[in-house]
Amino acid sequence: MNDLLTVARNAAFKAGVLLRENIHGVREISYKGDINLVTEMDMRSERAIVGVLRASFPEHGIIAEEETSIRNSSGFTWIIDPLDGTTNYAHGYPCFSVSIALEHEGEIIIGVVYDPMRDELYTARKGQGAFLNGKEIRVSKVDTLIRGLLATGFPYDRKVCDRNNLDYFHDLLMAAQEVRRDGSAALDLCYVALGRFDGYWELKLKPWDVAAGSLIVAEAGGMVTDFSGTRFSIHDNEILASNGKLHQPMVAILGKTGRNSECTLHSRKHT
Ligand code: IPD
Ligand code: CA
Ligand code: CA
Repeated sequence: MNDLLTVARNAAFKAGVLLRENIHGVREISYKGDINLVTEMDMRSERAIVGVLRASFPEHGIIAEEETSIRNSSGFTWIIDPLDGTTNYAHGYPCFSVSIALEHEGEIIIGVVYDPMRDELYTARKGQGAFLNGKEIRVSKVDTLIRGLLATGFPYDRKVCDRNNLDYFHDLLMAAQEVRRDGSAALDLCYVALGRFDGYWELKLKPWDVAAGSLIVAEAGGMVTDFSGTRFSIHDNEILASNGKLHQPMVAILGKTGRNSECTLHSRKHT
């Protein structure tokens, strides 16, 4: 049997090279919502990844963001974001990634995230540590919020729903050293694993945004939960990842109840 991680890494490289070579090319953009766009490179990347995985593991299931949904009883499902950071990519902002995870019997056992612009490949196997380009990585040791560099993102429905992260952003920006908003959730998680970021939180992500990165953080010695600090599922709509030391201080802010709990804004047109 082909090695699962090797095949996932080959798929991520193939897609990443394709994305890197085409970042300044003319591309077709279509919209899934008023600000949620998709380019033809999302599709081409997905087809490249699916082609590599199917060639080695034709019996496995696949769930990918754009067009692939193969469900079966093999017990193995690949979860793929072929281009995480599409808005950045469409603007030529060089912060995006390819994210590939493998779920086995409900548990993520392989995670691969590739940043083709920096040639940084983050990998993890369940129980075997996390690596950047083959070298083991660990989370940071920062233990106070005021010394912490955090990251976040904002949901695509932020203009029509007030559970949009703005109040959490305000509070954590005031409590931390700084907060970044880079636009690739998979890379945000890998940066927590590597210690570039000390903590990260976001709302309403999809399984393909967080499946690989959440394993990489955990294998680098970090913590991944919901905002109450108790549990985590890739199907949840909250993720809090940290170096462990900043987890409780972040839960103290994110776990406040009665805030941001309803969608009370009404759908309106935005330009
Ligand atoms: C997005 C990125 C971004 C996050 C968005 C995601 P996409 O993924 O991960 O950082 O803030 O909510 O949807 O759409 O570029 O694959
Ligand atoms: Ca994504
Ligand atoms: Ca995507």
